[in-house]
Amino acid sequence: MPAVTKVCCIGAGYVGGPTCAVIALKCPHIKVTIVDLNQSRIDAWNSADYKLPIYEPGLEDVVRRARGRNLFFSTDIDGSIQEADLIFVSVNTPTKKSGVGAGFAADLNYVESATRRIAKVATSSKIVVEKSTVPCRTAESMRIILEANSSPNCRFDILSNPEFLAEGTAINDLFKPDRVLIGSLQTPEGIAASNALVEIYANWVPKERILSVGLWSSELSKLAANAMLAQRISSVNALSAICEATGANIDEVAHAVGYDSRIGPNFLRASVGFGGSCFQKDILNLVYLSESLHLPEVAEYWKQVVIMNEYQKRRFSKTVVDMLFNTITGKRIAVLGFAFKADTGDTRESPAITLVRDFLLEKAHVSIYDPQVEHAQIWSDLSEALPLVPLPNLQKQVHITSSALDCCKDAEAVVIATEWREFREIDWEAVYRGMNKPAFVFDGRLLVDAQKLRSIGFKVTVIGRGE
Ligand code: NAD
Ligand code: UGA
Repeated sequence: MPAVTKVCCIGAGYVGGPTCAVIALKCPHIKVTIVDLNQSRIDAWNSADYKLPIYEPGLEDVVRRARGRNLFFSTDIDGSIQEADLIFVSVNTPTKKSGVGAGFAADLNYVESATRRIAKVATSSKIVVEKSTVPCRTAESMRIILEANSSPNCRFDILSNPEFLAEGTAINDLFKPDRVLIGSLQTPEGIAASNALVEIYANWVPKERILSVGLWSSELSKLAANAMLAQRISSVNALSAICEATGANIDEVAHAVGYDSRIGPNFLRASVGFGGSCFQKDILNLVYLSESLHLPEVAEYWKQVVIMNEYQKRRFSKTVVDMLFNTITGKRIAVLGFAFKADTGDTRESPAITLVRDFLLEKAHVSIYDPQVEHAQIWSDLSEALPLVPLPNLQKQVHITSSALDCCKDAEAVVIATEWREFREIDWEAVYRGMNKPAFVFDGRLLVDAQKLRSIGFKVTVIGRGE
């Protein structure tokens, strides 16, 4: 199989954009075109002042170095498919909202329409790579669609190459991945296609970190990795509830447990709950897959990870109400952070949305500050979370500010919902002066120095600490 010289990536989102920008940077001999249906997203990727559609540390530098050289962003999907030797399908795979499997199964509509587009317009053979996270055996459906609709003399080899980057650290994760996983059929053609993709990554990833496996193992490994990461968080969050009830400290427990080399220290940080576009979606997908395979006990096992996460969010907002003398009606709650984690402007499934919704349902006034999230995004998330509340009413109850200090002014309580570093360095004495008394801080991210805040006069509650 000849070496790949032209790559097309369908989907210019959080995965397609950074992943293929890094491929372009590291492989100057390959032309990489990232395409999307969304014109404004493509315009932002092409913007002269590099106001890119997603915030990701280090991304702008990568785009500055490769854009216009061998990296292009375009809405000419057909042209880019036609010229490419290898096509990444990196479209969204959200949880289905209606129909069979609603609330659990992945909505594969976007994957299918991208696949049909490839079949319709391709005039030469292609390697088609599933980059999106998909249920096990999706590659089989893609192959059937491609083969049933393709022009004569077009051969399609399908690979699975799931992405493991985390938002906020995407560029570093792509530069130095723990592993790159490539799944293929174990036929001579499948293995040749897999080798062609290995050669691309081998431009910067050590070969021993590039794992070649069967197609179905690759697809399932992605769901498995996310499920096991989320399971660690739900486990530590379940323990945080026991800590609060017993006087133990979750930091100390996680540290002691993580010191066991079989367990390891990462991903054991108790929190107000995990968010992000993928953990919940991928676990629900695994639950659906297990149910479809008539494995109800397996489905129940994984479902519990999501149930525990919901419980953690609910438990935290209830703690706020309980501590504020069982009512927050008419009180001002300052929510610091709205993104689902630090170093991203992404709010998908952010626990902050659930907290703010709960506070609003208790008739509190809420101020929100986040250093990266667009105000319009906050309004859109809250409108979706509270569909029965018209936007003008929401705008009377919610105030979005441009600094942490403004956010906390005249509040009864500060709630830390995202672990932005700048929240650790706030002038807490000034915050205290501006708040109503008694002034409460609820730290949902184990971020602040509780003793220091108590010495200023705050009443501090930290998740997982039973002080
Ligand atoms: P996203 O919503 O940010 O981007 C998807 C893009 O695909 C959108 O811009 C959309 O307009 C475009 N698109 C949809 N259908 C199209 C079509 N037919 N033709 C052209 N463009 C089309 O999604 P994302 O966060 O980049 O996630 C993509 C996939 O990667 C998902 O399956 C997700 O589970 C997986 N994933 C995401 C992350 C992450 O950190 N966000 C990490 C690993 C894997
Ligand atoms: C996660 C995985 O880490 C990636 O490997 C994967 O590629 C990606 O999902 C995906 O498939 O989309 P991401 O969601 O971007 O990445 O970010 P994480 O760092 O995993 O954080 C997810 C959530 O868990 C955040 O809300 C974070 O605050 C929370 N978290 C994380 C904790 O509460 N405790 C921890 O110890 C770690």
